[in-house]
Amino acid sequence: MTSDADQNPLRRLGVDRANARAANDPWANLCVLTTIDRGLPQARVLVLRDIEGRLALFMNATSPKQHQISNATHVNVLTYLASCGVQYRITASTTPIPQSIVHTSWRDRPRIPKVMDWLYHHHAPQSTVVPSRDTLKTMYETVHTTLAADPDAPASAIGYFIDAHEVERLQLAGDDIHTRERFSIVDGGWRRDVLVP
Ligand SMILES: Cc1cc2nc3c(=O)[nH]c(=O)nc-3n(C[C@H](O)[C@H](O)[C@H](O)COP(=O)(O)O)c2cc1C
Repeated sequence: MTSDADQNPLRRLGVDRANARAANDPWANLCVLTTIDRGLPQARVLVLRDIEGRLALFMNATSPKQHQISNATHVNVLTYLASCGVQYRITASTTPIPQSIVHTSWRDRPRIPKVMDWLYHHHAPQSTVVPSRDTLKTMYETVHTTLAADPDAPASAIGYFIDAHEVERLQLAGDDIHTRERFSIVDGGWRRDVLVP
């Protein structure tokens, strides 16, 4: 249970995401992660996970975003749940998730992402250029045929907890004025400010 007066924005997010899942909102489990690469913003869609009660992201350590995350103090995570008319903008630091947790979850992934993680690891780092899609498919077949039916995760399958410092929640209000709140960590608790929407 939560109320609009709830001072904990992460609890509010949890309730909003649960409602979005119940409404089959395609964004219920997604977010946009923004990082900075040599001064330029880089945004991409990722699955926003709940791991041990914390927000989390899974990725491959060969990817550009991993280097951008590890070189920065903060990242930005955005999600818009259209079914609830709610946007969250989260400024967060990141903490590596223990490999044992990531790798246990990794076992439940479908075959193609599993093979791709091994492909990144041994053949071509994620987001690098390949000569053609046919070349990529040949690489994929090589990994697929040599990889066990139930493989372990490569060391490069990693994850980060998202530790929110500031959360902005915008609730669209139809014919009324939207409700915009900013929650910031102050003295170990959440301070709530109302913003002009
Ligand atoms: C719906 C959707 C979900 C995605 N989920 C993930 C994810 O959980 N982890 C991930 O590494 N990439 C995910 N991707 C791919 C990323 O958006 C991105 O293309 C890829 O990670 C490479 O990013 P980078 O070059 O910025 O490192 C997803 C893409 C879409 C469209």
